[in-house]
Order: sequence, then C-alpha cells, then structure tokens
Amino acid sequence: MTTVLQRQGATRDLEALVIGAGFSGLYQLLCLRDRLGLSVQVLEAAGGVGGTWYWNRYPGARCDSESHAYCYSFSEELMREWEWSERYPEQPEIMRYLNHVADRFDLKKDIRFNTRVIGADYDEAANRWHVRTEAGEEFTTKFLITAVGCLSTANVPAIPGLEDFAGKWYHTGQWPHEGVDFTGKRVGIIGTGSTGIQAIPVIAETAAHLTVFQRTANYSVPARNVPLTPEFKQWVRDNTAEIRRVTQATPNGHPFTISERLARATSSEERQALYEAAWEKGGLQFRATFQDLLVDKEANDTAAEFIRGKIREIVKDPETAAKLSDIDHPYAAKRPPIDADYFETFNRPNVTLVDVRATPIERIVPDSIRTREGDYPLDIIVFATGFDAMTGPLLRLNIRGRSGLPLARAWEAGPRNYLGLQVAGFPNLFTVTGPGSPSVLCNMPVAIEQHVEWITGCIAHMRAQGLERIEARPEAVDIWVKQVNAAADATLLPQATHSWYLGANVPGKPRVFMPYAGRMALPPDLCRCRRQGLRRVCPEPLRQDLHSLQYLFSFRGRAHCHCEEQSDEAISRMVRTCRGIASLRSQ
Ligand SMILES: Cc1cc2nc3c(=O)[nH]c(=O)nc-3n(C[C@H](O)[C@H](O)[C@H](O)COP(=O)(O)OP(=O)(O)OC[C@H]3O[C@@H](n4cnc5c(N)ncnc54)[C@H](O)[C@@H]3O)c2cc1C
Ligand SMILES: NC(=O)c1ccc[n+]([C@@H]2O[C@H](COP(=O)([O-])OP(=O)(O)OC[C@H]3O[C@@H](n4cnc5c(N)ncnc54)[C@H](OP(=O)(O)O)[C@@H]3O)[C@@H](O)[C@H]2O)c1
Repeated sequence: MTTVLQRQGATRDLEALVIGAGFSGLYQLLCLRDRLGLSVQVLEAAGGVGGTWYWNRYPGARCDSESHAYCYSFSEELMREWEWSERYPEQPEIMRYLNHVADRFDLKKDIRFNTRVIGADYDEAANRWHVRTEAGEEFTTKFLITAVGCLSTANVPAIPGLEDFAGKWYHTGQWPHEGVDFTGKRVGIIGTGSTGIQAIPVIAETAAHLTVFQRTANYSVPARNVPLTPEFKQWVRDNTAEIRRVTQATPNGHPFTISERLARATSSEERQALYEAAWEKGGLQFRATFQDLLVDKEANDTAAEFIRGKIREIVKDPETAAKLSDIDHPYAAKRPPIDADYFETFNRPNVTLVDVRATPIERIVPDSIRTREGDYPLDIIVFATGFDAMTGPLLRLNIRGRSGLPLARAWEAGPRNYLGLQVAGFPNLFTVTGPGSPSVLCNMPVAIEQHVEWITGCIAHMRAQGLERIEARPEAVDIWVKQVNAAADATLLPQATHSWYLGANVPGKPRVFMPYAGRMALPPDLCRCRRQGLRRVCPEPLRQDLHSLQYLFSFRGRAHCHCEEQSDEAISRMVRTCRGIASLRSQ
C-alpha cells in the first residue's frame, strides 16, 4: 500500500518504458534490463502477465501454432526445461508458460500491473517521452517501446439495443476469469473467425441450444490436436537449435517448410491426394501444401474447392452445408482457422446456423437477437467479433510526437511507418510488431523475438555511438508504405475485402492492408535465400540492419548519419540484405 501511495503522483525517470507484458513486453524487458543494463519499467493494463492469453479465456481457447514453436527460442535452456503437453496448448498452459518465463527471469518486479497507459507526449527539447497512466501516474523515459499487441483491443459491434439485453453478454477477448456456465442456457454466438470456430464446438457441448450467427462463411481445417508423446518431447529437447533454425528460416516462422510444388503444375489426382494427406495431418500446414496458393487464384481455387467439398461431406443437412460452404474469398486470404469438430458441430440437434448476410441482425431486444427473418430468444450472447487490430491498441495510447502531432493524425489515412518499427516525427518510439511488419502473418513469437532483438541492438548501437535519437525519415516511410502495399497486392490477401487485415471489420477504419506480406510473393533471388536459410545467407543480420538503417533512419547525437541514399533501390537492397528485419518473416 505504501508503495502505491508513494508512487502516485510522482514522476519516475527511466531510460526505457515498455507498454504491455505479453510475449513482446516480457522479452523486451529482459533484453533492455539484463542485457543492456537500462532502467526499465513495464506498464500493463492487465492484472498479470500473458497478454493475449490473459484476456482470451473463452471455451476452446488454444493456439494454432504448434507448441514447440509457440514459445521463446532465445534461450536453449528455457526451451529444454519447458515441456508442452499437447500439439496445440490450451490457454491455461500458455499462461503457465509465460508466468514461468516471468518468474525464471525475475521480470515481475519491474512490471506495474493494473496500469493502463492513456497518453504519451514527446518533449523535443529534453528528448524525453512523458507517459501518463489512467491512475494519474507520470513517467518520463528516453525510449518508449510499445508492446501492446496486434489483437488486444476487443471489437464489440455497435448493434442497437445491446444495452437493453436482459441476459448476459461477453466478448471472447475480455472473458471473465471465473468462466461462464452455459449449462441449460440458450446461447447465441456472433462471429465465425478463428475464435468463434474454436469456441462453438465447446459451447455446444453444454448449452441447451446454440445459435451461430454467421456473416461470412469461413474455411477451416482440422487441427488434429493430440497429447505429445514422450518421444516427441525428447526430440524437442534434443533439437532446440534445429527448431530455432527452421522457424527463423521459413517465411512464416512456423516449424514447417512450404512445399515448392505448384498446385497448377500438379495433376488433379495427385493434388487431391496431397490435400487429403494435409487434411489428415491437420493444422496450418495445410496452406503449405503448394507454393502458389496465396499468389495464384486458380491454384487457390483448388484448395478452396477441396475444403468446400469436405464441408459438404461432413455437414448432413444440405441447407446448412450450403450456407457454411458458400465462402466468398480465397482460401487463407483471411487468417485461416483450424478446428476441433467445427463443421461436425452443425450436425448436433442443439445447434442452429443463421446466415446474417442473407438476413441481417436488426437489433438486440431484451430477450433475443432480432434478424430481418425473426427473433432468436437467448440467455447469453457471445461476441466472437474480433479486434480493432494492429492500429487499435496503438491509437488508444494517445501518443503525440514532435510538435504535439497526434499519432491519430499522422495515421489518419492508415498506418504509416518504416519497417513496422518507427514512425516519422516520433523519435525514440519503437513499435514491436507494428503495422507494416510481418507480425500477424507469422508464428508470432518468432516475429516478436526478431523485433525485440532488433530494437535492443539498435539501442545498444546508439549507446555505443553516443547517438541520442533515432527516427524514421519521412522519405523512408513513403517508400516502405509503397512496399507494404505492393507486397500485399502481389498476393490474394486483399481480395478478402471484409478482412481485419484491411481494417474492414471496424466501421470507419481506413481500408489499408496492415501487415507486411512481402514474403508471400517472392522474387527468385529471395526464394533462393529462403531455401538456404536465414543464418547461412546472412551471418550478421543485426550489423547489416544497422548499416542499412543509416540510409533510412536519421540519427541525432554526437555522431550524425545523413546519407542521402533513400531511393527505391536503397530499400530493395535493404530488404535483400537485412534478413534480420522484415523481409524473412511473413507468409
Ligand atoms: C485467441 C488468440 C489466439 C492466438 N493464437 C495465436 C497462435 O496460435 N499463433 C500465433 O502466432 N499468434 C496467435 N495469436 C496472436 C497473439 O496475439 C500473439 O501470438 C502474441 O500473444 C502477441 O503477444 P504480444 O505481447 O505482442 O501482445 P499481447 O499478447 O496482445 O500483449 C499486449 C499487452 O499489452 C497490454 N496493453 C495494451 N494496451 C495497453 C495500455 N494502453 N496500457 C497498458 N497495457 C496495455 C495488454 O493488456 C496486453 O497484455 C493469437 C491471438 C488471439 C487473440
Ligand atoms: N488459436 C489461434 O491461433 C487463434 C484463435 C483466435 C484468434 N486468433 C487470432 O485472432 C484473430 C481474430 O480472430 P477472431 O475470430 O477473434 O476475429 P475475426 O477473425 O475478426 O472474426 C470475427 C467474426 O465476427 C464477425 N463479425 C464481426 N462483426 C460482426 C457483426 N457486426 N455482425 C455479424 N458478424 C460480425 C466477422 O464476420 P465477417 O467475417 O463478415 O467480418 C467474423 O466472422 C485471428 O484472425 C487470429 O489471428 C488466433
């Protein structure tokens, strides 16, 4: 208590302040505090560590990345000592893991929980950031690092009448810690993205009746979760270096490689056999069956049609099967879900599918969701309606850069930064997995480690060189934004026009493809580099990154780096040489 009172109102002076204590914030704290010896404080809105896994406690919540790769890889000892129980760990197991990491490296003592940041202003004269919390505390810091996640701002749609609903309602990303008892209840769930697809089969097991409100039909592939065998666990312990090598060498950060075969160059019989094998194996590897699935519509159609065929096979009622398989976008153009008995669930007598594209939700009334077709009486509504992704958590920080420029104004037309890491006009601000970086197109711990290590290396470099300030140059931002758009346009991803990748799920949000998809459509030389693997091609990625940074960032301090080379050619060379930054990390 005394600590709280003492701290309230007082300004704390820091070298680095990190916002968020999920995968990103924990590792950023460890790097800056223990490797560089900086004074660091982490501020976290939640009551504990875990980020995504602290908030998303809905039934069925587990990761889609395979457990042996959904973890940190910076410490071989940590990799060896932690034992996952299943192919895809459930939310409580991931929370145990992140708490273990926080305790093992003694991180919690430098994290302030239940502390939401509501403002950050840059003071140019002092070269300091002033950070404010909801409770009125103030901090000043030289380096401000946002580790606020890409998917941490719940999106509850503004459906008229919600405030009059007499039952209970929940968003999956803000799930109550005590859980929700669905026994005997009439439950409605809105949303059939990755979250809805995980939650629906589990809720259906106990609810008296479950009504699924589907706006966009979605692809899904069986996850085929299994407990890990003692042999596999031993294999993981014996192969930590190899796992790290593979996840860093593959473009998507997952522990599997993408086939070099082209769907279009494969006979239909063989293609069918390969899809069958991938379906049986299960998981996100399905999209790695062929090289051209995300860049060639005709190739993609073969995967899409295979999955539609499976839906029609599994779902017994032809009308329900038709609604579920009437999918309007290319396979994997939205984040592809994986599931445990999702389509099978629609064969249960207590589950109803409502197509709200054909018959939209009009309003919520005290005891029902009302669509154009009629009322669906409910005791509980679950919003599996996703997030104000990527920019949402950053804009809610109310950051103001040089001359008081609000980040919201700088990003009025959509996010603009360099490499997803820095915004022009916001010196010494770093955004871990910011928009414009591969982030959500990757197995995220790999993308996170890359950004955190890059930021740490950059700050170490600045200290060594006596540099006080780093910020992206506006010209570099222009070039990078063009690059991000071009990378997306070279894929099929923007064809899913209702995707959260484009911000389309939040009314009024600018329609801009936010993650960097540059590794999905590759020039041949990069393909070759990818095959050879990151470390072998580029043994000193950080040195290379810092070297090229001199072209594209402007440093201020005792030493000045003002190279004038900022052309498209400079950036394409950088993308080729800086394998430690964005270029190797998307899919
Ligand atoms: C249900 C779900 C399942 C997922 N499964 C996978 C998967 O299988 N594989 C994969 O690669 N990725 C997955 N992801 C993505 C997941 O977000 C990342 O894998 C990873 O957990 C992100 O870590 P992070 O630390 O960057 O962000 P988060 O885990 O989102 O942590 C950000 C933290 O910042 C805090 N914060 C935000 N704003 C403020 C503020 N103003 N003040 C103070 N604190 C603040 C939040 O409370 C949060 O704790 C999943 C996402 C969801 C929602
Ligand atoms: N295990 C995992 O790996 C895992 C699990 C869950 C989530 N995630 C991550 O989190 C991301 C978000 O997943 P999510 O499922 O939470 O969100 P999402 O993918 O954005 O899906 C939201 C769903 O809600 C629907 N919806 C939104 N607003 C609606 C409205 N007003 N009326 C009717 N329907 C509405 C959407 O329909 P439309 O499609 O028509 O917009 C969509 O079906 C995923 O893409 C993934 O990156 C990962």
